[in-house]
Amino acid sequence: MKRLNWGMIGGGEGSQIGPAHRLGAQADGNFVLAAGALDHNADAGRAYAQRLGVAADRAYGDWREMLSGESAREDRVDLVTVATPNSTHFEITKAFLEAGFNVLCEKPMTMTVEEGEEIVKIAAASGKICAVNYCYSAYPMVREMREMVRTGQIGKVRLVVTNFSHGHHGDATDADNPRVRWRYDPAMAGVSGQFADCGIHALHMASFIVGDQVRELSADFASTIPSRELEDDAMVNFRMEGGTVGRLWTSSVAIGRQHGFDIQVFGETGGMRWRSEEPNQVYYTPVGGRTQIMEKGEGGLSHEAGRMSRVAIAHPEGFPLAVANIYVDLAASIRGELRDGLPLAEDGLRSMAAVHQAVVSAADRGAWVDARPPMYR
Ligand code: NAI
Repeated sequence: MKRLNWGMIGGGEGSQIGPAHRLGAQADGNFVLAAGALDHNADAGRAYAQRLGVAADRAYGDWREMLSGESAREDRVDLVTVATPNSTHFEITKAFLEAGFNVLCEKPMTMTVEEGEEIVKIAAASGKICAVNYCYSAYPMVREMREMVRTGQIGKVRLVVTNFSHGHHGDATDADNPRVRWRYDPAMAGVSGQFADCGIHALHMASFIVGDQVRELSADFASTIPSRELEDDAMVNFRMEGGTVGRLWTSSVAIGRQHGFDIQVFGETGGMRWRSEEPNQVYYTPVGGRTQIMEKGEGGLSHEAGRMSRVAIAHPEGFPLAVANIYVDLAASIRGELRDGLPLAEDGLRSMAAVHQAVVSAADRGAWVDARPPMYR
């Protein structure tokens, strides 16, 4: 099968998420890195792209140069990944979609709900794919949980409890470090700090596994380090359309927690739980029965869990291969077979609406508010 041409914006040398995209996109031979505008520093971006094997004439200094360069080519990139800081996602994603490119945008997709609605509309009008990198949903055992809910193995879901809480911004003496400070500065981060950064992964995961959308929420935000304008800790209660009760805790000051993303789903006839730091196992308990540990790669799992796994039972796969699963489904979608489960612009929009409504709720001492984007009400 012909490899697809892939381009990347952001994710330059030393960036946090860039390597996971390069490993993920190229893991299965679907994509080849053909173009890039990798860095905010044009020369550094050009040089790094060439070290990664990109031809000199496709190692661009910035994304506008890449847009015009690629638009003029017959072998233009089939997919553009946007892995720049949050405030730039909207204009870059919009410009590439409008020019007829498929886009994978990092989360959060936009800074405002209006921008999110615009991206959804532009993607629909262009007929191009706009995916959002909710990559945790592509772990094999997360897919297994989703299939278990779908096939009724825990009955109707009553309750979902999730948290994404780490302690990496818990040191008040490091709060002025520029790499930390911007995340709590509204001018750089927007209306929300920790909830927009990590909480939306957990919220997306809840919807993904339960197979339902968040309808309303009540939020309590705290800036536990007083110099921070935006929250570094949030508790969000929510209700889904079908009545499932949701509880979500997200924090960046939970010292001692490293990655700290986990989810528990409780239904009428069983419960299950999964942790990102132990991603190969799901703990499942049928009502009245014993807890079972289900392992990635064992027999009897769903087709989806098998499809998302490449190496044999007991061998860890982990984060880059979860990202790779997003790229596998993107490649299939670009080739004409839209894959169920690929997180799309609609998901990015729902997250943005939830973020903005959580801010409204938190400012009103946790009042319950409609969490849905206006266009889905
Ligand atoms: P970072 O600060 O480590 O790296 C950002 C990179 O983008 C740098 O190489 C920088 O030079 C480059 N850059 C900045 N402005 C640019 C521009 N205008 N044009 C081209 N390149 C530009 O940031 P990090 O942590 O890698 O985050 C990037 C994005 O990825 C953020 O939106 C973040 O929320 C998201 N992210 C997503 C994760 C996930 O699990 N899906 C995990 C970590 C980050």
